[in-house]
Amino acid sequence: MIFDNHNRPINYLRLAVTDRCNLRCSYCMPEHGLDWLSRSALLSYEELLRLCHIFAGLGIDKVRITGGEPFVRKDLIKFLDSLSNIEGIKQINLTTNGVASLPFIPRLKELGIRSVNLSLDTLDRERFFEITRRDELPAVLKTLDALIEQQFHVKINAVVLNGNNDADIIPMAELTKNLPVDVRFIEEMPFNGGDHEATSPVWDHRKILEQLQSSWPDIQKLTDPPNSTAFHYQIPGFKGKIGIIAAWTRSFCGSCNRIRLTPQGMLKTCLYDNGVLNIRDAIRSGNSNDQIAEKLMIAFRSRHENGWEAEAAAKAEGSFESMAMIGG
Ligand code: 5AD
Ligand code: SF4
Repeated sequence: MIFDNHNRPINYLRLAVTDRCNLRCSYCMPEHGLDWLSRSALLSYEELLRLCHIFAGLGIDKVRITGGEPFVRKDLIKFLDSLSNIEGIKQINLTTNGVASLPFIPRLKELGIRSVNLSLDTLDRERFFEITRRDELPAVLKTLDALIEQQFHVKINAVVLNGNNDADIIPMAELTKNLPVDVRFIEEMPFNGGDHEATSPVWDHRKILEQLQSSWPDIQKLTDPPNSTAFHYQIPGFKGKIGIIAAWTRSFCGSCNRIRLTPQGMLKTCLYDNGVLNIRDAIRSGNSNDQIAEKLMIAFRSRHENGWEAEAAAKAEGSFESMAMIGG
């Protein structure tokens, strides 16, 4: 197990396999999309597998596949198959928007994937269109049903938008009444690829909780698992759980066990940093696995203490990213 310079173990990699997406969520990217990466700018599956092997050697045992939307990258299942054979990787999870995932669900199960995060912010078809600029709610709901039927552990990620969200928070929380799912409300972060000016969220974790308490005064706080980014709650008698993720308030940095790899091969040791190591260049300039591991170790041992520090350093360099380039 590897520890960073603030004594936090690092064992969790979030791997964004593409920046492309079949939705255009306004909190993630502008309506016209992003300047998509060219194929050669993207890490190839071979490069990703080589890197994951190196990461596993450093103690990473959990990988989450994200994007963009992972299923828009060709041959994702083949890649997952190879990834699942890397020694040391004990758990592979996936985050998807559910638009095109349905046909792959049986294969995910065969590969031993047990937990899927589904991005879904509203149950109202018009609101869904307003937020994502695509009329895909029915497809996403079919995916949700199939995941539950196939007994995946499903966590629904709902970004709480700056606007009037009463209409979404309560119906989304109500999903936990009869379904064994976690519904997690996420504070809006400033990674919208320039879609709009990013301010601190109107709906921070306190206000989200108050909104839930106004409908369910007896909502109960649960114990949060270690390294959790969410505050967990449950409404008495409901099957599922509720999470509130203070992604903007950054209350979870003290136990952060995660690193990120962007689709173009930048290592991020904090969600809010600008990328601390260009691993793609390191690979393509002929470094050995040991040399790459050495560079990674140096990056792990110079992590910012928290997201505020990382953000201040990133702002000094000046850049605004999309979540599709970060992987959430
Ligand atoms: N703020 C908060 N969450 C976001 N996501 C995407 N963009 C943002 C943002 N600006 C979430 C998506 C997805 C996860 C990977 O990140 O809802 O579930
Ligand atoms: Fe696509 Fe996810 Fe970004 Fe929405 S938030 S546009 S689903 S990558």
